[in-house]
Amino acid sequence: MPYLRSLTVTAPAKLNLGLEILRRREDGYHDLATIFLTVSLCDELTLTENERLEAHCDDPGLGAEENLVLRAAKALRGNTSPRPGATIELRKAIPVAAGLGGASSNAAATLVAARALWRLPTSDEELALLAGQIGSDVPFFLHGGCALGRGRGDVLKRLPFPADVWFVVVAPRISIPRKTASLYASLQTSDLSDGAMVAAQAARLQSGHDIDQSLLANAFSRPLYERVPGLPELPELMRRAGAPTVALSGAGPAHYTTVGDPELAQQISVRLRSDLGNTACIAVVTPVPERSILPGDYDVS
Ligand code: C5P
Repeated sequence: MPYLRSLTVTAPAKLNLGLEILRRREDGYHDLATIFLTVSLCDELTLTENERLEAHCDDPGLGAEENLVLRAAKALRGNTSPRPGATIELRKAIPVAAGLGGASSNAAATLVAARALWRLPTSDEELALLAGQIGSDVPFFLHGGCALGRGRGDVLKRLPFPADVWFVVVAPRISIPRKTASLYASLQTSDLSDGAMVAAQAARLQSGHDIDQSLLANAFSRPLYERVPGLPELPELMRRAGAPTVALSGAGPAHYTTVGDPELAQQISVRLRSDLGNTACIAVVTPVPERSILPGDYDVS
């Protein structure tokens, strides 16, 4: 058996601390303003050198469309000669298509890890460019941490990392066909705003303050609640379980509440598990700081 180099990386989920849609663009995308934060609900990827390029996932429910791992690896190796290969094993913990960025995070982790494994000369700028071609949220996940996202989500400004905060995340186990594109398409003028709320939250975090819970509104709430019967009841159910305020992450259906006390977070999650049973994935998470993407910082063994 030849010695095969291998590398394991984590791919964290994200929450959106507020999400405003500003306008529809000529290219069909939308300009938005949001704050991304990586949190401690993580998938894990192991990349092992191989002649072929192939990906395996421990979640048989993950469709090819939702698995951006192979797309990212193929985009990275491009026309490199000789063509490097790898077996990529993806272990999922992040609920799929929930608004928690799992697929985008997997793609970014693949770019970072495969560059290190294959010892490619790809620069950080080229990596960011490839990330943006794979998906609007992928550039954020290269580094993760806390960042203000503008443009279609790919224009990023790093923000200080909020400390002493716990989130209870509730991801209902429902599938919404073509969720992201169709929710963008059903936005109305009244769902659009000028980005002032997100800018105010960013300014707050920038000056070292904690998250302002009154600034977590999300432009997808109306179209999502109209699309999914029963979902509008989730925030009220979360409040009855002790959640001070409830916010939507990305295009949903994951919701979260933020609290300053880990015991309170656990109590809320226990009540929600008893209320919701197996109909939702419930997790208590904390922020995950930014990571290095330098190939030398990855332990290829
Ligand atoms: O970039 P991504 O592949 O995640 O986007 C999926 C779809 O969501 C796009 O094809 C587009 O319809 C919509 N979208 C958008 N504006 C954004 C991001 C995504 O309209 N900022």
